[in-house]
Amino acid sequence: MPTGADYVADAVALGVDEVMIDRLVRHFYAEVRLDAELGPIFDARIADWEPHLRRMVDFWSSVMLRTGRYHGQPMPLHARLPVSGVDFDRWLELFGATAEKVCGPAAPLFIDRASRIAQSLELGIAGTRGLMLQTNERLPPLVAPQGAPDEQDV
Ligand code: HEM
Repeated sequence: MPTGADYVADAVALGVDEVMIDRLVRHFYAEVRLDAELGPIFDARIADWEPHLRRMVDFWSSVMLRTGRYHGQPMPLHARLPVSGVDFDRWLELFGATAEKVCGPAAPLFIDRASRIAQSLELGIAGTRGLMLQTNERLPPLVAPQGAPDEQDV
């Protein structure tokens, strides 16, 4: 897998451009919203999808083409999500299938980057829950302690 300075050149050579990224993001989140597990997690937090989709296009443009258009901080946004390793696997499964459809020979590049970022988000979320995941250990489901007050009640 290419790394470093050649990364963008390799991505461009495989056809990665803004049009491909826009199509990938829109197809992917259309699938996510239909998914029984992931759909409700997103729909509970995103009322207006167009700004989210544009931020995700900026994100992938920054990751794949190093355009520097994304300035957000994904970690704190994910830290409080009720997700587990199973959800990350599902996210990556849907992302991979969409990338295969939309990105042709560039699909492995997107999948590689998504996998690495997913792994770092999963480790980061575990950390915010006070868990230090061992090699190959996955983020367990979030279980509220019995009798604990809801976030909204605090
Ligand atoms: C279990 C898997 C995942 C779930 C359920 C999830 C869910 C979400 C949700 C609900 C938001 C919106 C947060 C908000 O605006 O309050 C969000 C934002 C975001 N997600 Fe994920 N996500 C997942 C995995 C990933 C992965 C693997 C990546 C990157 C490869 C990613 C990249 C992003 C980025 C960049 C944003 C932030 C956009 C911004 O700055 O507003 N997510 N995610």
